[in-house]
Amino acid sequence: MSSETKTERLLRMRAEAQAGGGQKRIDIQHKKGKLTARERIDFLVDEGSFVELDRYVTHRCTDFGMGEQKILGDGVVTGHALIDGRPVYLFSQDFTVFGGSLSETHAEKICKVMDLAIKAGVPVIGLKDSGGARIQEGVSSMGGYAEIFWRNTQASGVVPQISAIMGPCAGGAVYSPALTDFVFMVEGTSYMHITGPDVVKTVTHEIVTSEELGGAAVHAEKSGVSHFTSADDKSCLNSIRRLLSYLPLNNAEGPPMVECDDPADRCDVELDTLVPSDPQKPYDMHGVIERVVDSGSFMEVQADYARNILVGYARLGGRAVGIVANQPAVLAGCLDIESSEKGARFIRFCDAFNIPIVTFEDVPGFLPGTSQEYAGIIRHGAKLLYAYCEATVPKLTVITRKAYGGAYDVMGSKHVRADMNVAWPGSMIAVMGAAGAANIIHRREIGAADDPESVLKKKADEYEETFNNPYRAAARGFIDDVIEARMTRPYLIRALGVLASKHEAGPTRKHGNIPL
Ligand code: HXC
Repeated sequence: MSSETKTERLLRMRAEAQAGGGQKRIDIQHKKGKLTARERIDFLVDEGSFVELDRYVTHRCTDFGMGEQKILGDGVVTGHALIDGRPVYLFSQDFTVFGGSLSETHAEKICKVMDLAIKAGVPVIGLKDSGGARIQEGVSSMGGYAEIFWRNTQASGVVPQISAIMGPCAGGAVYSPALTDFVFMVEGTSYMHITGPDVVKTVTHEIVTSEELGGAAVHAEKSGVSHFTSADDKSCLNSIRRLLSYLPLNNAEGPPMVECDDPADRCDVELDTLVPSDPQKPYDMHGVIERVVDSGSFMEVQADYARNILVGYARLGGRAVGIVANQPAVLAGCLDIESSEKGARFIRFCDAFNIPIVTFEDVPGFLPGTSQEYAGIIRHGAKLLYAYCEATVPKLTVITRKAYGGAYDVMGSKHVRADMNVAWPGSMIAVMGAAGAANIIHRREIGAADDPESVLKKKADEYEETFNNPYRAAARGFIDDVIEARMTRPYLIRALGVLASKHEAGPTRKHGNIPL
Protein backbone atom coordinates (compact mmCIF):
# COMPACT_ATOMS: atom_id res chain seq x y z
CA MET A 1 0.00 0.00 0.00
CA SER A 2 1.30 3.44 -0.93
CA SER A 3 2.42 5.71 1.92
CA GLU A 4 1.43 8.76 -0.20
CA THR A 5 -1.49 10.72 1.27
CA LYS A 6 -4.36 11.85 -0.95
CA THR A 7 -3.13 15.41 -0.77
CA GLU A 8 0.42 14.34 -1.62
CA ARG A 9 -0.93 12.48 -4.61
CA LEU A 10 -2.79 15.58 -5.77
CA LEU A 11 0.29 17.76 -5.38
CA ARG A 12 2.50 15.21 -7.16
CA MET A 13 0.12 14.98 -10.09
CA ARG A 14 -0.23 18.74 -10.25
CA ALA A 15 3.57 19.13 -10.34
CA GLU A 16 3.76 16.42 -13.02
CA ALA A 17 1.22 18.27 -15.18
CA GLN A 18 3.07 21.51 -14.60
CA ALA A 19 6.35 20.01 -15.88
CA GLY A 20 4.91 19.20 -19.35
CA GLY A 21 7.45 17.34 -21.46
CA GLY A 22 10.25 17.83 -18.91
CA GLN A 23 13.12 20.22 -18.28
CA LYS A 24 15.23 19.03 -21.25
CA ARG A 25 12.51 19.89 -23.73
CA ILE A 26 11.74 23.16 -21.90
CA ASP A 27 15.42 24.11 -22.29
CA ILE A 28 15.21 23.40 -26.05
CA GLN A 29 12.11 25.61 -26.24
CA HIS A 30 13.94 28.45 -24.47
CA LYS A 31 17.00 28.01 -26.69
CA LYS A 32 14.78 28.68 -29.70
CA GLY A 33 13.82 32.00 -28.07
CA LYS A 34 10.31 30.76 -27.25
CA LEU A 35 8.41 30.78 -23.97
CA THR A 36 6.67 27.61 -22.84
CA ALA A 37 2.91 27.20 -23.04
CA ARG A 38 2.50 28.05 -19.34
CA GLU A 39 4.95 30.97 -19.41
CA ARG A 40 2.96 32.44 -22.29
CA ILE A 41 -0.29 32.25 -20.33
CA ASP A 42 1.35 33.75 -17.23
CA PHE A 43 2.70 36.66 -19.28
CA LEU A 44 -0.59 37.24 -21.14
CA VAL A 45 -3.15 37.29 -18.34
CA ASP A 46 -3.65 39.31 -15.15
CA GLU A 47 -1.42 37.96 -12.42
CA GLY A 48 -2.91 35.03 -10.54
CA SER A 49 -6.11 35.01 -12.62
CA PHE A 50 -5.57 31.82 -14.63
CA VAL A 51 -7.82 28.89 -13.72
CA GLU A 52 -6.75 25.69 -15.45
CA LEU A 53 -9.15 23.04 -16.72
CA ASP A 54 -8.45 19.41 -17.63
CA ARG A 55 -4.86 19.26 -16.43
CA TYR A 56 -5.10 15.50 -15.81
CA VAL A 57 -6.33 14.57 -19.29
CA THR A 58 -4.19 12.02 -21.13
CA HIS A 59 -4.52 10.56 -24.63
CA ARG A 60 -6.27 7.24 -25.30
CA CYS A 61 -3.94 5.98 -28.03
CA THR A 62 -2.30 2.56 -27.63
CA ASP A 63 -0.67 2.17 -31.06
CA PHE A 64 3.07 2.61 -31.63
CA GLY A 65 3.83 2.12 -27.92
CA MET A 66 1.83 5.24 -27.02
CA GLY A 67 0.13 3.37 -24.12
CA GLU A 68 3.39 3.74 -22.20
CA GLN A 69 3.89 7.40 -23.10
CA LYS A 70 1.31 9.52 -21.34
CA ILE A 71 1.91 13.07 -20.21
CA LEU A 72 -0.68 14.83 -18.08
CA GLY A 73 -2.48 17.57 -20.00
CA ASP A 74 -1.70 15.92 -23.36
CA GLY A 75 0.09 18.87 -24.93
CA VAL A 76 -2.31 21.74 -24.38
CA VAL A 77 -2.95 23.97 -21.36
CA THR A 78 -6.54 25.23 -21.24
CA GLY A 79 -8.64 27.41 -18.96
CA HIS A 80 -9.98 30.89 -18.28
CA ALA A 81 -8.39 34.06 -16.95
CA LEU A 82 -8.73 37.82 -16.81
CA ILE A 83 -7.04 40.36 -19.09
CA ASP A 84 -7.32 43.94 -17.79
CA GLY A 85 -9.96 42.57 -15.45
CA ARG A 86 -12.12 41.17 -18.29
CA PRO A 87 -12.68 37.43 -18.79
CA VAL A 88 -11.17 35.32 -21.60
CA TYR A 89 -11.02 31.61 -22.35
CA LEU A 90 -7.73 30.40 -23.71
CA PHE A 91 -5.66 27.41 -24.77
CA SER A 92 -1.91 27.22 -25.19
CA GLN A 93 -0.30 24.33 -27.05
CA ASP A 94 2.72 22.82 -25.31
CA PHE A 95 5.43 21.97 -27.83
CA THR A 96 7.36 20.07 -25.12
CA VAL A 97 4.64 17.38 -25.12
CA PHE A 98 4.63 15.34 -28.36
CA GLY A 99 5.56 18.53 -30.21
CA GLY A 100 2.23 20.12 -29.21
CA SER A 101 0.62 17.72 -31.70
CA LEU A 102 -3.14 17.44 -31.69
CA SER A 103 -4.62 14.15 -30.44
CA GLU A 104 -8.29 13.38 -30.03
CA THR A 105 -8.16 14.34 -26.33
CA HIS A 106 -6.04 17.45 -26.99
CA ALA A 107 -8.79 18.54 -29.40
CA GLU A 108 -11.49 17.74 -26.83
CA LYS A 109 -9.80 20.08 -24.35
CA ILE A 110 -9.77 22.90 -26.90
CA CYS A 111 -13.39 22.23 -27.85
CA LYS A 112 -14.42 22.38 -24.19
CA VAL A 113 -13.07 25.92 -23.73
CA MET A 114 -14.54 27.02 -27.05
CA ASP A 115 -17.99 25.71 -26.03
CA LEU A 116 -17.71 27.46 -22.67
CA ALA A 117 -16.59 30.70 -24.32
CA ILE A 118 -19.54 30.70 -26.73
CA LYS A 119 -22.01 29.98 -23.90
CA ALA A 120 -20.55 32.68 -21.66
CA GLY A 121 -20.01 35.22 -24.44
CA VAL A 122 -16.30 35.58 -23.77
CA PRO A 123 -13.40 35.87 -26.29
CA VAL A 124 -11.25 32.82 -27.06
CA ILE A 125 -7.49 33.07 -27.46
CA GLY A 126 -5.47 30.19 -28.95
CA LEU A 127 -1.68 30.18 -28.60
CA LYS A 128 -0.46 27.76 -31.28
CA ASP A 129 2.80 25.87 -31.21
CA SER A 130 2.22 22.46 -32.74
CA GLY A 131 3.61 19.82 -35.08
CA GLY A 132 0.04 19.28 -36.39
CA ALA A 133 -1.99 16.10 -36.27
CA ARG A 134 -0.71 13.54 -33.71
CA ILE A 135 0.74 11.16 -36.26
CA GLN A 136 0.21 8.07 -34.05
CA GLU A 137 -3.54 8.75 -33.91
CA GLY A 138 -4.41 9.13 -37.59
CA VAL A 139 -8.03 9.90 -38.36
CA SER A 140 -8.98 10.55 -34.71
CA SER A 141 -6.73 13.57 -34.83
CA MET A 142 -8.23 14.78 -38.11
CA GLY A 143 -11.70 14.43 -36.57
CA GLY A 144 -10.45 16.55 -33.67
CA TYR A 145 -9.37 19.30 -36.04
CA ALA A 146 -12.73 19.32 -37.78
CA GLU A 147 -14.51 19.61 -34.42
CA ILE A 148 -12.44 22.73 -33.76
CA PHE A 149 -13.12 24.14 -37.27
CA TRP A 150 -16.86 23.69 -36.71
CA ARG A 151 -16.71 25.54 -33.39
CA ASN A 152 -14.59 28.32 -34.96
CA THR A 153 -17.45 28.83 -37.40
CA GLN A 154 -20.13 28.71 -34.69
CA ALA A 155 -18.19 31.26 -32.63
CA SER A 156 -17.65 33.55 -35.61
CA GLY A 157 -19.49 36.83 -35.07
CA VAL A 158 -20.49 35.74 -31.54
CA VAL A 159 -17.24 36.11 -29.58
CA PRO A 160 -13.92 37.52 -30.80
CA GLN A 161 -11.46 34.74 -31.67
CA ILE A 162 -7.73 35.40 -31.60
CA SER A 163 -4.95 33.06 -32.78
CA ALA A 164 -1.28 33.59 -32.04
CA ILE A 165 1.08 31.45 -34.09
CA MET A 166 4.14 31.00 -31.86
CA GLY A 167 5.76 27.98 -33.50
CA PRO A 168 4.92 25.58 -36.33
CA CYS A 169 1.39 25.52 -37.76
CA ALA A 170 1.17 23.33 -40.83
CA GLY A 171 -1.21 21.25 -42.90
CA GLY A 172 -4.93 21.36 -42.16
CA ALA A 173 -4.08 22.90 -38.78
CA VAL A 174 -3.79 26.30 -40.49
CA TYR A 175 -7.53 26.42 -41.06
CA SER A 176 -8.44 27.00 -37.44
CA PRO A 177 -6.46 30.27 -37.24
CA ALA A 178 -7.73 31.17 -40.71
CA LEU A 179 -11.31 30.90 -39.43
CA THR A 180 -10.61 33.14 -36.44
CA ASP A 181 -10.77 36.93 -36.47
CA PHE A 182 -7.13 37.84 -35.86
CA VAL A 183 -3.86 36.00 -36.54
CA PHE A 184 -0.71 37.09 -34.74
CA MET A 185 2.71 35.76 -35.82
CA VAL A 186 6.16 35.92 -34.23
CA GLU A 187 9.16 36.73 -36.43
CA GLY A 188 11.66 33.92 -36.86
CA THR A 189 9.89 31.26 -34.78
CA SER A 190 6.47 30.86 -36.37
CA TYR A 191 5.34 29.63 -39.74
CA MET A 192 2.10 28.59 -41.40
CA HIS A 193 1.77 26.58 -44.61
CA ILE A 194 -0.56 24.03 -46.12
CA THR A 195 2.30 21.77 -47.28
CA GLY A 196 5.91 21.91 -46.10
CA PRO A 197 9.11 22.44 -48.08
CA ASP A 198 9.54 18.68 -48.81
CA VAL A 199 6.13 18.29 -50.41
CA VAL A 200 6.59 21.55 -52.32
CA LYS A 201 9.90 20.26 -53.70
CA THR A 202 8.33 16.98 -54.80
CA VAL A 203 5.30 18.54 -56.45
CA THR A 204 6.55 21.81 -57.93
CA HIS A 205 10.36 21.34 -57.76
CA GLU A 206 10.62 24.65 -55.89
CA ILE A 207 13.24 24.75 -53.16
CA VAL A 208 12.08 26.90 -50.24
CA THR A 209 12.52 27.02 -46.49
CA SER A 210 9.58 27.05 -44.07
CA GLU A 211 10.35 30.71 -43.39
CA GLU A 212 10.24 31.58 -47.11
CA LEU A 213 7.08 29.55 -47.60
CA GLY A 214 5.08 30.74 -44.61
CA GLY A 215 7.10 32.84 -42.17
CA ALA A 216 5.75 35.91 -40.41
CA ALA A 217 6.92 38.33 -43.11
CA VAL A 218 5.28 36.29 -45.90
CA HIS A 219 1.88 36.32 -44.24
CA ALA A 220 2.15 39.97 -43.17
CA GLU A 221 3.17 41.33 -46.58
CA LYS A 222 2.25 38.87 -49.34
CA SER A 223 -0.65 36.61 -48.37
CA GLY A 224 -2.53 38.79 -45.86
CA VAL A 225 -3.14 35.71 -43.68
CA SER A 226 -1.77 37.41 -40.57
CA HIS A 227 -2.87 40.67 -38.98
CA PHE A 228 -0.05 41.44 -36.55
CA THR A 229 3.68 40.61 -36.51
CA SER A 230 5.82 40.75 -33.38
CA ALA A 231 9.53 40.45 -32.75
CA ASP A 232 9.16 37.89 -29.95
CA ASP A 233 6.66 36.04 -27.77
CA LYS A 234 6.36 38.79 -25.17
CA SER A 235 5.63 41.60 -27.61
CA CYS A 236 3.09 39.33 -29.35
CA LEU A 237 1.28 38.72 -26.05
CA ASN A 238 1.36 42.45 -25.24
CA SER A 239 -0.24 43.19 -28.62
CA ILE A 240 -3.02 40.69 -27.89
CA ARG A 241 -3.74 42.51 -24.62
CA ARG A 242 -3.84 45.83 -26.47
CA LEU A 243 -6.15 44.54 -29.20
CA LEU A 244 -8.61 43.17 -26.63
CA SER A 245 -8.90 46.65 -25.08
CA TYR A 246 -10.81 47.79 -28.20
CA LEU A 247 -13.15 44.80 -28.41
CA PRO A 248 -16.39 43.91 -26.65
CA LEU A 249 -16.61 40.50 -24.99
CA ASN A 250 -19.30 39.38 -27.43
CA ASN A 251 -21.72 40.49 -30.14
CA ALA A 252 -24.40 41.59 -27.66
CA GLU A 253 -22.16 44.19 -26.03
CA GLY A 254 -20.50 47.40 -27.10
CA PRO A 255 -16.75 47.95 -26.91
CA PRO A 256 -15.46 49.23 -23.57
CA MET A 257 -15.26 53.01 -22.99
CA VAL A 258 -11.99 54.21 -21.50
CA GLU A 259 -11.07 57.42 -19.68
CA CYS A 260 -9.71 59.92 -22.18
CA ASP A 261 -7.47 62.86 -21.32
CA ASP A 262 -7.27 64.10 -24.92
CA PRO A 263 -9.88 66.93 -25.09
CA ALA A 264 -12.94 66.15 -27.22
CA ASP A 265 -12.87 69.71 -28.63
CA ARG A 266 -9.19 69.61 -29.62
CA CYS A 267 -8.72 71.20 -33.06
CA ASP A 268 -5.47 70.43 -34.87
CA VAL A 269 -4.68 73.35 -37.18
CA GLU A 270 -2.03 71.35 -39.03
CA LEU A 271 -4.86 69.33 -40.55
CA ASP A 272 -5.91 72.41 -42.53
CA THR A 273 -2.71 72.27 -44.59
CA LEU A 274 -1.80 68.59 -44.39
CA VAL A 275 -3.48 67.59 -47.66
CA PRO A 276 -1.69 68.99 -50.75
CA SER A 277 -4.03 70.98 -52.97
CA ASP A 278 -2.41 69.41 -56.05
CA PRO A 279 -4.54 66.27 -56.54
CA GLN A 280 -1.53 64.40 -57.95
CA LYS A 281 0.57 64.89 -54.81
CA PRO A 282 0.63 62.08 -52.27
CA TYR A 283 0.51 62.43 -48.48
CA ASP A 284 0.48 59.94 -45.64
CA MET A 285 -3.03 59.30 -44.31
CA HIS A 286 -1.50 58.12 -41.01
CA GLY A 287 -0.88 61.82 -40.31
CA VAL A 288 -4.61 62.57 -40.63
CA ILE A 289 -5.72 59.64 -38.48
CA GLU A 290 -3.20 60.29 -35.73
CA ARG A 291 -4.15 63.99 -35.48
CA VAL A 292 -7.86 63.21 -35.24
CA VAL A 293 -8.12 60.21 -32.89
CA ASP A 294 -7.36 60.13 -29.14
CA SER A 295 -3.65 60.63 -28.75
CA GLY A 296 -1.65 57.42 -29.36
CA SER A 297 -4.77 55.26 -29.71
CA PHE A 298 -4.42 54.06 -33.32
CA MET A 299 -3.60 50.34 -33.55
CA GLU A 300 -3.14 49.44 -37.19
CA VAL A 301 -4.25 46.02 -38.44
CA GLN A 302 -2.47 44.36 -41.40
CA ALA A 303 -0.10 47.33 -41.60
CA ASP A 304 2.17 45.71 -44.21
CA TYR A 305 -0.47 44.20 -46.48
CA ALA A 306 -2.41 46.08 -49.19
CA ARG A 307 -0.96 49.33 -47.91
CA ASN A 308 -3.17 51.39 -50.24
CA ILE A 309 -5.89 51.03 -47.60
CA LEU A 310 -5.37 51.53 -43.86
CA VAL A 311 -7.49 49.73 -41.29
CA GLY A 312 -7.20 49.63 -37.52
CA TYR A 313 -8.71 50.45 -34.17
CA ALA A 314 -8.59 53.78 -32.41
CA ARG A 315 -10.59 55.77 -29.88
CA LEU A 316 -12.50 59.00 -30.19
CA GLY A 317 -13.39 60.56 -26.85
CA GLY A 318 -12.61 57.20 -25.22
CA ARG A 319 -15.00 55.30 -27.52
CA ALA A 320 -13.50 52.50 -29.68
CA VAL A 321 -13.91 52.87 -33.45
CA GLY A 322 -12.75 50.98 -36.51
CA ILE A 323 -10.84 53.19 -38.96
CA VAL A 324 -10.89 52.53 -42.71
CA ALA A 325 -8.84 54.95 -44.81
CA ASN A 326 -7.52 55.24 -48.33
CA GLN A 327 -3.76 55.79 -48.37
CA PRO A 328 -2.78 58.30 -51.10
CA ALA A 329 0.90 57.53 -50.44
CA VAL A 330 0.51 54.01 -51.93
CA LEU A 331 -0.91 53.45 -55.45
CA ALA A 332 -2.43 56.94 -55.06
CA GLY A 333 -4.96 55.31 -52.72
CA CYS A 334 -6.62 53.31 -55.54
CA LEU A 335 -8.78 50.37 -54.52
CA ASP A 336 -7.57 47.01 -55.83
CA ILE A 337 -8.33 43.37 -55.09
CA GLU A 338 -6.22 43.05 -51.96
CA SER A 339 -7.28 46.35 -50.39
CA SER A 340 -10.95 45.59 -51.09
CA GLU A 341 -10.71 42.25 -49.29
CA LYS A 342 -8.71 43.75 -46.44
CA GLY A 343 -11.25 46.53 -45.94
CA ALA A 344 -14.25 44.22 -46.27
CA ARG A 345 -13.07 41.73 -43.67
CA PHE A 346 -12.25 44.51 -41.24
CA ILE A 347 -15.64 46.20 -41.68
CA ARG A 348 -17.49 42.92 -41.20
CA PHE A 349 -15.69 42.30 -37.91
CA CYS A 350 -16.52 45.82 -36.69
CA ASP A 351 -20.15 45.39 -37.69
CA ALA A 352 -20.44 41.99 -36.01
CA PHE A 353 -19.05 43.41 -32.76
CA ASN A 354 -20.80 46.79 -32.59
CA ILE A 355 -17.73 48.91 -33.33
CA PRO A 356 -18.60 52.13 -35.25
CA ILE A 357 -16.76 52.62 -38.55
CA VAL A 358 -14.99 55.89 -39.36
CA THR A 359 -13.87 56.24 -42.99
CA PHE A 360 -11.26 58.74 -44.20
CA GLU A 361 -11.65 58.94 -47.96
CA ASP A 362 -9.24 60.05 -50.65
CA VAL A 363 -9.77 57.67 -53.53
CA PRO A 364 -9.22 58.22 -57.26
CA GLY A 365 -11.05 54.99 -58.19
CA PHE A 366 -10.39 51.29 -58.76
CA LEU A 367 -6.98 50.26 -60.08
CA PRO A 368 -7.17 49.74 -63.86
CA GLY A 369 -5.46 46.97 -65.83
CA THR A 370 -5.67 43.41 -67.08
CA SER A 371 -4.05 41.91 -64.00
CA GLN A 372 -6.82 43.32 -61.83
CA GLU A 373 -9.63 42.48 -64.26
CA TYR A 374 -8.39 38.93 -64.91
CA ALA A 375 -8.02 38.29 -61.19
CA GLY A 376 -11.60 39.46 -60.59
CA ILE A 377 -11.54 43.02 -59.26
CA ILE A 378 -15.26 43.08 -60.04
CA ARG A 379 -16.17 40.37 -57.55
CA HIS A 380 -13.46 41.25 -55.03
CA GLY A 381 -14.25 44.98 -55.13
CA ALA A 382 -17.89 43.99 -54.59
CA LYS A 383 -16.89 42.54 -51.22
CA LEU A 384 -15.98 45.98 -49.93
CA LEU A 385 -19.18 47.45 -51.33
CA TYR A 386 -21.20 44.62 -49.76
CA ALA A 387 -19.50 45.05 -46.39
CA TYR A 388 -20.27 48.80 -46.29
CA CYS A 389 -23.88 48.25 -47.41
CA GLU A 390 -24.45 45.45 -44.92
CA ALA A 391 -22.96 47.19 -41.87
CA THR A 392 -25.55 48.62 -39.48
CA VAL A 393 -23.16 50.07 -36.89
CA PRO A 394 -22.75 53.88 -36.93
CA LYS A 395 -20.87 54.77 -40.12
CA LEU A 396 -19.09 58.14 -40.37
CA THR A 397 -17.22 59.31 -43.45
CA VAL A 398 -14.77 62.17 -43.88
CA ILE A 399 -13.76 63.04 -47.45
CA THR A 400 -10.29 64.56 -47.22
CA ARG A 401 -9.70 65.09 -50.95
CA LYS A 402 -10.80 62.86 -53.84
CA ALA A 403 -14.03 60.88 -53.94
CA TYR A 404 -14.26 59.71 -57.51
CA GLY A 405 -16.54 57.41 -59.44
CA GLY A 406 -17.62 54.00 -58.15
CA ALA A 407 -15.10 54.26 -55.34
CA TYR A 408 -17.05 57.30 -54.04
CA ASP A 409 -20.13 55.10 -53.72
CA VAL A 410 -18.21 52.27 -52.08
CA MET A 411 -16.25 54.17 -49.44
CA GLY A 412 -19.03 54.81 -46.97
CA SER A 413 -21.20 57.15 -49.07
CA LYS A 414 -24.66 58.26 -47.95
CA HIS A 415 -26.09 55.93 -50.59
CA VAL A 416 -24.71 52.86 -48.77
CA ARG A 417 -26.36 54.30 -45.64
CA ALA A 418 -23.54 56.07 -43.87
CA ASP A 419 -24.96 58.13 -41.01
CA MET A 420 -22.67 61.13 -41.12
CA ASN A 421 -20.73 62.37 -44.16
CA VAL A 422 -18.59 65.46 -44.25
CA ALA A 423 -16.00 66.79 -46.67
CA TRP A 424 -13.03 69.06 -46.24
CA PRO A 425 -13.12 72.32 -48.25
CA GLY A 426 -10.55 71.18 -50.84
CA SER A 427 -12.30 67.92 -51.59
CA MET A 428 -13.43 66.83 -55.03
CA ILE A 429 -16.54 64.69 -55.33
CA ALA A 430 -17.01 63.79 -58.98
CA VAL A 431 -17.14 61.04 -61.56
CA MET A 432 -13.44 61.37 -62.27
CA GLY A 433 -10.49 63.81 -62.27
CA ALA A 434 -10.84 67.05 -64.24
CA ALA A 435 -8.32 66.24 -67.01
CA GLY A 436 -9.86 62.82 -67.68
CA ALA A 437 -13.37 64.27 -67.74
CA ALA A 438 -12.43 67.17 -70.07
CA ASN A 439 -10.70 64.74 -72.42
CA ILE A 440 -13.87 62.70 -72.80
CA ILE A 441 -16.47 65.48 -72.97
CA HIS A 442 -14.46 67.78 -75.28
CA ARG A 443 -12.50 65.18 -77.25
CA ARG A 444 -13.43 66.55 -80.70
CA GLU A 445 -12.81 70.17 -79.79
CA ILE A 446 -9.45 69.35 -78.20
CA GLY A 447 -8.43 67.18 -81.17
CA ALA A 448 -9.29 69.91 -83.70
CA ALA A 449 -7.50 72.70 -81.80
CA ASP A 450 -4.18 74.20 -82.94
CA ASP A 451 -2.95 74.00 -79.38
CA PRO A 452 -4.72 70.95 -77.88
CA GLU A 453 -2.75 71.17 -74.61
CA SER A 454 -4.02 74.64 -73.72
CA VAL A 455 -7.61 73.79 -74.74
CA LEU A 456 -7.47 70.69 -72.56
CA LYS A 457 -6.17 72.74 -69.65
CA LYS A 458 -8.89 75.36 -70.10
CA LYS A 459 -11.63 72.73 -70.26
CA ALA A 460 -10.15 70.84 -67.31
CA ASP A 461 -10.07 74.07 -65.26
CA GLU A 462 -13.70 74.73 -66.16
CA TYR A 463 -14.67 71.18 -65.12
CA GLU A 464 -12.73 71.51 -61.91
CA GLU A 465 -14.40 74.80 -61.06
CA THR A 466 -17.88 73.40 -61.74
CA PHE A 467 -17.69 69.86 -60.41
CA ASN A 468 -14.48 69.13 -58.53
CA ASN A 469 -15.53 70.61 -55.25
CA PRO A 470 -17.74 69.40 -52.40
CA TYR A 471 -20.66 71.77 -53.07
CA ARG A 472 -22.46 69.81 -55.81
CA ALA A 473 -22.68 66.86 -53.42
CA ALA A 474 -23.57 69.16 -50.51
CA ALA A 475 -26.39 70.73 -52.59
CA ARG A 476 -27.98 67.29 -52.89
CA GLY A 477 -27.49 66.33 -49.23
CA PHE A 478 -25.00 63.62 -50.24
CA ILE A 479 -22.73 65.11 -47.63
CA ASP A 480 -24.08 66.67 -44.44
CA ASP A 481 -21.58 69.50 -44.26
CA VAL A 482 -18.28 70.91 -45.45
CA ILE A 483 -16.04 71.44 -42.42
CA GLU A 484 -12.59 72.86 -41.79
CA ALA A 485 -10.19 69.97 -41.45
CA ARG A 486 -9.24 71.10 -37.94
CA MET A 487 -12.85 70.57 -36.78
CA THR A 488 -12.86 66.87 -37.68
CA ARG A 489 -12.16 65.48 -34.21
CA PRO A 490 -14.89 67.43 -32.36
CA TYR A 491 -17.32 66.77 -35.22
CA LEU A 492 -16.74 62.99 -35.14
CA ILE A 493 -16.92 62.77 -31.35
CA ARG A 494 -20.26 64.59 -31.28
CA ALA A 495 -21.61 62.42 -34.09
CA LEU A 496 -20.54 59.23 -32.32
CA GLY A 497 -22.33 60.40 -29.20
CA VAL A 498 -25.61 61.05 -30.98
CA LEU A 499 -25.34 57.78 -32.94
CA ALA A 500 -24.54 55.61 -29.91
CA SER A 501 -28.17 54.50 -29.68
CA LYS A 502 -28.47 53.73 -33.42
CA HIS A 503 -30.45 50.61 -34.17
CA GLU A 504 -31.07 49.34 -37.68
CA ALA A 505 -32.54 45.99 -38.67
CA GLY A 506 -32.31 44.59 -42.19
CA PRO A 507 -34.75 42.26 -43.97
CA THR A 508 -35.34 38.77 -42.54
CA ARG A 509 -33.13 36.17 -44.21
CA LYS A 510 -30.94 33.17 -43.38
CA HIS A 511 -27.80 34.99 -44.47
CA GLY A 512 -26.73 37.19 -47.31
CA ASN A 513 -24.55 35.95 -50.16
CA ILE A 514 -21.43 38.10 -50.09
CA PRO A 515 -19.49 37.62 -53.37
CA LEU A 516 -16.64 35.39 -52.15
C1 HXC B 1 3.48 13.31 -32.98
C2 HXC B 1 5.20 14.82 -33.03
C3 HXC B 1 4.62 15.46 -34.14
C4 HXC B 1 3.39 14.95 -34.64
C5 HXC B 1 6.42 16.50 -33.65
N1 HXC B 1 6.32 15.47 -32.77
N2 HXC B 1 5.40 16.50 -34.51
N3 HXC B 1 4.63 13.75 -32.46
N4 HXC B 1 2.85 13.88 -34.02
N5 HXC B 1 2.75 15.53 -35.65
C6 HXC B 1 7.25 15.16 -31.68
C7 HXC B 1 8.58 14.64 -32.15
O1 HXC B 1 8.50 13.25 -32.33
C8 HXC B 1 9.48 15.02 -30.98
O2 HXC B 1 9.26 14.09 -29.93
C9 HXC B 1 8.90 16.34 -30.53
O3 HXC B 1 7.56 16.37 -31.03
C10 HXC B 1 9.63 17.51 -31.08
O4 HXC B 1 9.78 17.35 -32.48
P1 HXC B 1 11.16 17.62 -33.21
O5 HXC B 1 11.01 17.08 -34.56
O6 HXC B 1 12.28 17.12 -32.36
O7 HXC B 1 11.19 19.20 -33.20
P2 HXC B 1 11.70 20.18 -34.32
O8 HXC B 1 13.04 19.75 -34.81
O9 HXC B 1 11.58 21.55 -33.74
O10 HXC B 1 10.69 20.04 -35.53
C11 HXC B 1 9.34 20.43 -35.40
C12 HXC B 1 8.50 19.95 -36.60
C13 HXC B 1 8.73 18.45 -36.83
C14 HXC B 1 8.97 20.72 -37.84
C15 HXC B 1 7.06 20.31 -36.30
O11 HXC B 1 8.55 17.78 -35.57
C16 HXC B 1 7.77 17.88 -37.82
O12 HXC B 1 7.96 18.00 -39.01
N6 HXC B 1 6.71 17.19 -37.31
C17 HXC B 1 5.77 16.53 -38.16
C18 HXC B 1 4.88 17.55 -38.82
C19 HXC B 1 3.77 16.88 -39.59
O13 HXC B 1 3.99 16.30 -40.64
N7 HXC B 1 2.57 16.87 -39.02
C20 HXC B 1 1.41 16.35 -39.62
C21 HXC B 1 0.89 17.42 -40.56
S1 HXC B 1 -0.58 16.93 -41.35
P3 HXC B 1 10.36 13.80 -28.83
O14 HXC B 1 9.77 12.71 -27.99
O15 HXC B 1 11.59 13.40 -29.57
O16 HXC B 1 10.55 15.07 -28.06
C22 HXC B 1 -1.75 17.53 -40.41
C23 HXC B 1 -3.08 17.19 -40.90
C24 HXC B 1 -4.13 17.97 -40.18
O17 HXC B 1 -1.51 18.18 -39.45
C25 HXC B 1 -5.46 17.60 -40.75
C26 HXC B 1 -6.49 18.59 -40.38
C27 HXC B 1 -7.70 18.46 -41.21
